[in-house]
Amino acid sequence: MRLQLICITILQVAMVESLKEVSGYLGDNVTLPSGADTSWNLSKIEWSIFPNNTWIATYRKGKESIERFYRYKGRLTLNTTTGDLTIHNLNRKDAMDYSVDFDNVQGQNIVNKVKLTVTERLQKPTIETAISGLTNGGCWVMLQCSSTDQDVDFTWQVKPPNVTVLNTQDPNGSSAVQVAFLNTTQSGVEFTCTSSRQKENISHSVSPKCSVSIKPSPTPAALTPPPERCRSGVAVFGGVVLGCLLSAVVMCVFGDKIIKAWDIIKGKLRPSNNTAETEG
Ligand SMILES: *[C@@H]1O[C@H](CO)[C@@H](O)[C@H](O)[C@H]1NC(C)=O
Ligand SMILES: *[C@@H]1O[C@H](CO)[C@@H](O)[C@H](O)[C@H]1NC(C)=O
Ligand SMILES: *[C@@H]1O[C@H](CO)[C@@H](O)[C@H](O)[C@H]1NC(C)=O
Ligand SMILES: *[C@@H]1O[C@H](CO)[C@@H](O)[C@H](O)[C@H]1NC(C)=O
Ligand SMILES: *[C@@H]1O[C@H](CO)[C@@H](O)[C@H](O)[C@H]1NC(C)=O
Ligand SMILES: *[C@@H]1O[C@H](CO)[C@@H](O)[C@H](O)[C@H]1NC(C)=O
Ligand SMILES: *[C@@H]1O[C@H](CO)[C@@H](O)[C@H](O)[C@H]1NC(C)=O
Ligand SMILES: *[C@@H]1O[C@H](CO)[C@@H](O)[C@H](O)[C@H]1NC(C)=O
Repeated sequence: MRLQLICITILQVAMVESLKEVSGYLGDNVTLPSGADTSWNLSKIEWSIFPNNTWIATYRKGKESIERFYRYKGRLTLNTTTGDLTIHNLNRKDAMDYSVDFDNVQGQNIVNKVKLTVTERLQKPTIETAISGLTNGGCWVMLQCSSTDQDVDFTWQVKPPNVTVLNTQDPNGSSAVQVAFLNTTQSGVEFTCTSSRQKENISHSVSPKCSVSIKPSPTPAALTPPPERCRSGVAVFGGVVLGCLLSAVVMCVFGDKIIKAWDIIKGKLRPSNNTAETEG
């Protein structure tokens, strides 16, 4: 008697064929494969949640029952041909091990397990834009791309590609800044930030335009003279133009993070500004 029991236990263990891993997105549908041979004619299908073997969907003697457990009520579809179970409108609690036990009409029995993981889809990144006033026939645009998602990488793309750009990435990877000089003759320049993680990615595009008007800012008036004075100031003060209004506007919008990026730009600009100085 005891030996028989042990034998049965061993047999049952041997019949557990595989543990499949399936991943679904929060709020989406996911299909758990039964693993049944497509040539099989299934006479019994029993899906249960593994830890305590609570049945959630069954098919016995031609009768389907998919409203067995409150947590899955109205969210299940059982394909009685394949034995596959579809869970609709996934939530985080659905992430666990499932077990399917099925018989074919010849009386063969198989038990398979499926491990379901539920992940959240990547959210569209947000782009904050700051535009300086018109200077030297164009304007500076600073774009900061960030996301609410963790562990994502950002990439910037510019169309057309002949726009002068400068990239900096936050060391934490929580945002990526791009600075570009837009020529006033260039219109419809598109900046696209793509947030990616593993095989998934999602993009957001903006097309900022040079604008003559500058938003009033809370910084002292001395730091934000009107654009005309600023433009003539370029030749006179050289690098001071940055302090004149660009940095004021940009700092207002982005705050601390930008200081690093801005230092780099200043470094890059210095040679051309010096040229302007000697010319003037
Ligand atoms: C999920 O399943 C429901 C019900 O069958 C369907 O209406 C919906 O379009 C499906 N959603 C997706 C993202 O496939
Ligand atoms: C599957 O089995 C059912 C019940 O035994 C039978 O009515 C049906 O014809 C079979 N279908 C196939 C494709 O063998
Ligand atoms: C079985 O486990 C599920 C998930 O952990 C739980 O919601 C359910 O109440 C349990 N059922 C029983 C009878 O313990
Ligand atoms: C069951 O799955 C098979 C194969 O994917 C499909 O052809 C069939 O239409 C499905 N049946 C139902 C009721 O969804
Ligand atoms: C950049 O490329 C576009 C089209 O590819 C062209 O029309 C434009 O003149 C170019 N601008 C500069 C400054 O080279
Ligand atoms: C990086 O993350 C740490 C901890 O979250 C934070 O204290 C620090 O300010 C962040 N650095 C930047 C440049 O955002
Ligand atoms: C803007 O573009 C025009 C033609 O594409 C070019 O002649 C001019 O020098 C550019 N201005 C600046 C500031 O780059
Ligand atoms: C985004 O994903 C698509 C396919 O899903 C791929 O073709 C593309 O190269 C990816 N882009 C980036 C920036 O990873």
